[in-house]
Amino acid sequence: MNHITILLLYICCILSSCTQKNEIIIGTVELSNSKLLLTQEADSLDVPWDLQYDKTNNYIIFSEIKGNIKKLDLSDNSVKLIATIPNVFQQRTTGLLGMALYQPHQNEHYLFVSYTTKTNEKIYSNLCRYIYKDGTITNPNLLLQIPGNTGHNGSRIIIGTDKKIYWATGDAAIDANAQDISKQNGKILRINIDGSIPNDNPIPNSYVYAWGFRNMQGLAQGENSLIYTSEHGDAVEDEVNLIQPLHNYGWPLIEGKNTPKKETDSMKAITFTTPLQSWTPVIAPAGIAYYGSTKIAEWRKSLILSTLKSQSLRILKLSEDGKAIIDEYTLFKDELGRLRSVLTLPNGDIYFCSSNRDWNPQKGFPKPEDDRIYKLSLTEKTVGRVFHPVKTTLTPVVEVSGKNLYEAYCASCHKADGKGITGTFPSLAKSTAVNGDQQTLSQIILNGLKDKTIAGVKYEASMPAFNFLKDEEATAIINYIRTNFGNQSSTITINQFKQTK
Ligand code: HEC
Repeated sequence: MNHITILLLYICCILSSCTQKNEIIIGTVELSNSKLLLTQEADSLDVPWDLQYDKTNNYIIFSEIKGNIKKLDLSDNSVKLIATIPNVFQQRTTGLLGMALYQPHQNEHYLFVSYTTKTNEKIYSNLCRYIYKDGTITNPNLLLQIPGNTGHNGSRIIIGTDKKIYWATGDAAIDANAQDISKQNGKILRINIDGSIPNDNPIPNSYVYAWGFRNMQGLAQGENSLIYTSEHGDAVEDEVNLIQPLHNYGWPLIEGKNTPKKETDSMKAITFTTPLQSWTPVIAPAGIAYYGSTKIAEWRKSLILSTLKSQSLRILKLSEDGKAIIDEYTLFKDELGRLRSVLTLPNGDIYFCSSNRDWNPQKGFPKPEDDRIYKLSLTEKTVGRVFHPVKTTLTPVVEVSGKNLYEAYCASCHKADGKGITGTFPSLAKSTAVNGDQQTLSQIILNGLKDKTIAGVKYEASMPAFNFLKDEEATAIINYIRTNFGNQSSTITINQFKQTK
């Protein structure tokens, strides 16, 4: 080796130890008065689902859906496995889901985790408490186990300012659970740290705190202890709600800000709480975090919402009292893929993660280094690609063209090319139902479909009903799917469609 090589090696060595922080600059978000640097902090993860901040050690503790709990050390960006939760049942959306890290005192740290298990053909959602210490977990303590299903298991956990656990559960794919106050599915449950029922809960001897939910995917607490959730609607009306004790959020009797689907006399007596915001076509909202820091002045008093289907971060600007959403901005639309979870740090930095290796990847994803954890932090100058948040119009108008309507309502499952996902969503190309008689096809679209075996495959997921579509919209979709994806069947007129209803 000559002297120059040795010198180069020496320099590389110094450089690599200095740049051990494996942070990749992606670009800059330009806001009205400030700039945010977007960096990638970790890569090659397998569907990270929840991010928590360990303020004692400066770690981000995160779950991966198949059962791993890992730590991202913010001092050097190294990622290490903490533990694998035993017996996690992972299939499509089930698995290791929400977590909450609770560090009330120097020597009292807990990690709460929620995950799906399957025993003797029965599926459960579990709330388990671990003792957490400096990036290790021990002493699992199963606090609560409730019925689960192959879908709609929620869930997120927070520890409120009142030192109680709030657990947002899914309806376990049984609509009626949400309106049954004796069931723990489709509810916000309020639980003592040791798993017992708080004696100041709104219903004596019940964990139920609020009800009428389908499948919540985000939970956060903001100023004045206000609690916010995000929730998936079925074919329409994804929601963000402000949670109040014993309020009924209406699923499945009512969705979004609409009037009840069927009004019976007994229902007239029930008051439903309308969401702060709802979205049709759906965006698949996921994790939410409250931004209360003064660092990013433009975003102070906002909810940061990560979305899956619409592949974006949403900034939901709250009113002064936090009880209304006054503006909405969309950021990174279709750039980073599906976004699952978001976390705000006390120093004002924002971390969020992608979910491109999950059961429903979107076109062009996953990329080789997915999934990733990203950071947004204040910066002085613009580097890399430039991103701007776009003000979202609150009622998006979908123009009546078969293609637009198909993309808004059907493509999230059957995909833009109509091919679906093998074993999960049937292909509409060459499908007998699509190309066969029009009445059967109309009925499928209007009423939805479940438990069918199509071309030898039994589908576990069901197709929601699209009976809210106007006649001209349904006709346009029918004609689109009958003449695309290689299908060459006859089209129908609106009048013919009306006769098939
Ligand atoms: C949330 C996911 C989802 C959405 C959105 C969705 N579908 Fe489906 N679709 C399914 C599933 C799952 C099945 C199979 C259900 C079963 O039989 O168990 C299905 C089945 C079908 C079938 C029957 C296919 C066959 O070969 O028998 C047709 C036709 C269809 N969907 C059309 C549509 C159209 C048109 C739209 C949009 C208006 C749509 N779907 C939206 C999930 C979805």
